[in-house]
Amino acid sequence: MAPVTDLSFAIEPTTNPTPADHRADLIAKPVFGRVFTDHMAIVKYKEGKGWHDAKVTARKPLTLDPATAVLHYAQEIFEGMKAYCTENGGVASFRPEANARRFRASAERMAMAEVPEDLFIKAVDSLVAIDRDWVPSGEGQSLYIRPFMIASEVFLGVKPSSEYLFIVIASPVGAYFGSGCVSVWVSDDYSRAAPGGTGAAKCGGNYAASLVAQRESKHHGCDQVLFLDSREQRFIEEMGGMNVMFLRDDNTLVTPPLTGTILPGITRDAILQLAKERGLRVEETPIDINELFEGAANGRYREAFACGTAAVISPIGSLKRAEGEAVFGDGKTPGEVTLMLKKTLTDIQTGRSNDEHGWVHRIV
Ligand code: PLP
Ligand code: COI
Repeated sequence: MAPVTDLSFAIEPTTNPTPADHRADLIAKPVFGRVFTDHMAIVKYKEGKGWHDAKVTARKPLTLDPATAVLHYAQEIFEGMKAYCTENGGVASFRPEANARRFRASAERMAMAEVPEDLFIKAVDSLVAIDRDWVPSGEGQSLYIRPFMIASEVFLGVKPSSEYLFIVIASPVGAYFGSGCVSVWVSDDYSRAAPGGTGAAKCGGNYAASLVAQRESKHHGCDQVLFLDSREQRFIEEMGGMNVMFLRDDNTLVTPPLTGTILPGITRDAILQLAKERGLRVEETPIDINELFEGAANGRYREAFACGTAAVISPIGSLKRAEGEAVFGDGKTPGEVTLMLKKTLTDIQTGRSNDEHGWVHRIV
C-alpha cells in the first residue's frame, strides 16, 4: 500500500510572471523541452525528518554545493507525463498514479527515499493548476511534466544519500519528432541495460549511457537508436527514450516483454490494452532482430512504431544497421493500425472519446 501524506503545498506565486502576450508566443509552436512555465513544485527530504517544506514557487536555478552527491554518483530519477487541454475546457493528466508508482519503483532501485504516491500527484496537480495558462491547446500539443528527484546530501562517500530534493517542472510541447515516419539506427555496439542493472528504472544514468549510441544514430542519418539485449545483441529491447512495437501480417501487435531491462512504459501498457479491445492479438515476446529484418522484407512485419509520453505513437519508416535496412510499408507513410491506435489513445487523453478505463485525471 502506498504511504499517505498529509503534507500540503505552500503556494507562493511568482512576483514576475511571464506577460500573457509573450507566453502566447512561447506556447504557439513549442519545441520539445526548451520553454518552461513560471513555477516549480519542490519538496525536501531528510533522514529522520521525512518529507517537508512542500511548496510551489517561482521557477529558479538550484544552488548546489559542488560536493552534492548527485553530481558525482548520479543518484537521480525522473518521470515524464503530460497534461492536456480537454474538450470540456478543463486540463487533465493521463494515468498519473502509474507515474507515481513507477517513480517509487525507480527510487527503490536507486536506494533513494520514496515519494508517497499521493504527494507525487499533489505536487504535479498543484504545479499544473498554477501554470494552467501554459497548457497549449493546439493539435498534438500538451504540457510536458517532469518530476525528478536528486540526492542532495553534501558528501563524497559512496552511499545512499540521506537528503533528497523532489522537484516538478513543466514545459509546453508539441510533437517530439517532426511529421512523417521516424528512422531508427539499430545499435550493435552499445547496450542500454543488462540483467540485474537499472534498465527498468527511470534514472538519468540510463539516458547518459544511451547518448553515444544516439549520436551514432545521427551519424547514420537516423532520428533514434534501438538497443538490443546485452547478452546476445540479438533481441530487440527499446529505443533511447521510448518503447517499440511491430504489427505482423496476422494482425498481431508484438513488443518485447518486461524482463527488467526495459522501461515499463505507461503508453505501452495503454496501447496493449486498447489494441486487444480493438480485436488485435497482442504478444509480449522476444523479437529476433534478424527475423524482423527478414519479416520486413517479405511482408510478414507490416508496421512499426515508437511509443512513449514524449513520442506518443511515432510511426517508424525504417530500421538501419550495418548489414542493411528494414523498411516498413513504403518507408514514408504511417501504417493504418499505427494511426488508428494513435487516434484512439489521443482521443482518450484529450477527452474527445469516453474514458472507459478511468485513465484521465482532471486537474482543473
Ligand atoms: N522507454 C524509455 C527509455 C523511455 O524514456 C520512455 C519514456 O518515458 C518510455 C520507454 C515510455 O514510457 P512512458 O510511456 O511511460 O512514457
Ligand atoms: C518521456 O517520454 O517522458 C521520456 O522520458 C523520453 C524522453 C525522450 C523525453
